[in-house]
Amino acid sequence: MALRTLSDLPDSQFDGKRVLVRVDFNVSINNGAVGEDYRIRLSIPTIEYLAKRGAKVILASHLGRPKGRERLYSLAPVAKRLSDIVGKSRPAIRFVDDCVGPEVEDEISKMNKGDVLLLENLRFHDEEELNDPEFSKKLASLADIYVNDAFSTSHRKHSSTYGAAWLFDVRIAGFTLSKEVEYLSMIRENPINPFTLVVGGVKIKDKIGALEHLLPKADRVMIGGAAAYTFLKAKGVKTGNSPIDEERLPWVTTALSAYGDKIMLPTDHVCATSPSDTSVTMVRGDIPNGMSGYDIGKETIERYSAEVGGKSGGTVFWNGPMGMFEIRVFSNGTINIARSMALAFWRGSKTLIGGGDTLEAMKRSGVAENEVSHVSTGGGATLRYLAGDEMPGVVILNGH
Ligand code: 3PG
Repeated sequence: MALRTLSDLPDSQFDGKRVLVRVDFNVSINNGAVGEDYRIRLSIPTIEYLAKRGAKVILASHLGRPKGRERLYSLAPVAKRLSDIVGKSRPAIRFVDDCVGPEVEDEISKMNKGDVLLLENLRFHDEEELNDPEFSKKLASLADIYVNDAFSTSHRKHSSTYGAAWLFDVRIAGFTLSKEVEYLSMIRENPINPFTLVVGGVKIKDKIGALEHLLPKADRVMIGGAAAYTFLKAKGVKTGNSPIDEERLPWVTTALSAYGDKIMLPTDHVCATSPSDTSVTMVRGDIPNGMSGYDIGKETIERYSAEVGGKSGGTVFWNGPMGMFEIRVFSNGTINIARSMALAFWRGSKTLIGGGDTLEAMKRSGVAENEVSHVSTGGGATLRYLAGDEMPGVVILNGH
C-alpha cells in the first residue's frame, strides 16, 4: 500500500509551518531514565526531514496508561534522550509540561523554523483516549499539518490518532509509519514465497486473527513458546503442568486439521518444576506431571533453525519468543531462532520481526537491528494489521 508521505509534498509546503507529528514514544522508563530507545531513534528521519525544510516540529505521544497526571509517566526523560541522541548537531529538543492549553500555545508561538518541541504525555488528559471532540479541536489548533509516524498506536481510535487528525487538510504518513505499512502489507497480501512463520509467546488469543490470515499463505509455520503446549495438547501429547489455553483449544484443533501438514511443533522441551528451578530436565515427547516446558529442546532447535536459517529467499516473519528467554537456562531456543533469522537475512530472505519481546530477544542474542529487514515497532497494532483489521490512524491519512 502506497501512502502519501512527507516526500510526496513540495519542500516549500513545510517552510515556516507548524507540523504536529504523532510519534510513539511509549518506551520503558527505569528510575527516571529511558530504557530501550528504538522507538525514539526511529522518529529521527521524520523529525530531521521536517526540521531541515523549515518546519516547526511539534511531537506528541502517549507513555504508558496513566490515571491522570502521574509523574511516573512524564515524557520529560524522552525529551532528554532525544536531545542526547541528536547531540550538538541541532538546537536542543524543547519540552513543554502539557499537550494543550495556553502554556503550550505560548511555547509554540516562540518556535523558530527548524525547532523541535515535545509535548507532555497526551494521556494525562482522559479526553485523549475518549477521542473527545473538544480536546481534538484544541490539539488540532496547535498546527497546520498533521503527520502520523506512530504505526504502533494506529490501532487506537484516540484524539491524536483519529479525531484531531481529521481536522487537518494535510494528513500524511511519516517515514517510519509508511515503511511499516509497506512491509506488513507485503506480508499480509503478497509475501514472497517460500513464506515461513515462527510464532511463539504466550497469548494465542492475540494472534488468532493474524494466524487466520497468514496460515493459508504460509509454506511453513513453526510454533514455540507457551503457545506450543496448547497445540501439542490438541494433538494428544501430554503437556504436564505447562500452561494450556483451554478456551482456544477448539480453534487450535481446527487449525491443525486444516494446516497440520505445514505446522511444525516442538518434539522436545527444556522442563522444570517452576521457572525458578534451575535443575532443568530435557524431555522428549510427553511432559511428565509436575513439570512444565519453559523452552524448546535441542532437537527442536535444530529442526527450526535449519528451516529458518536455511532459507535463501522468500520471507520469514517471527513473532514471540520460543521460551522464557529472560532466564538464561530457558533462552537457547529464542537465541538460536534470532541467529537463524540473521542468517536467513544474510542469505537474501526478507526477514521481519514483530512484538516488543521479540526485539528484546533479538538484542540478547547479539543480533543487530541491521541484520533484519524490518523490525516492527508494533505489538498489538502489528497483529491487528496482519489480521486485516482497519487501523483508524492509517485510514485517516491522505492517499490511503
Ligand atoms: C504499544 O506499545 O503497543 C503502543 O504504544 C500502544 O500502547 P497502548 O496499548 O497502551 O495503547
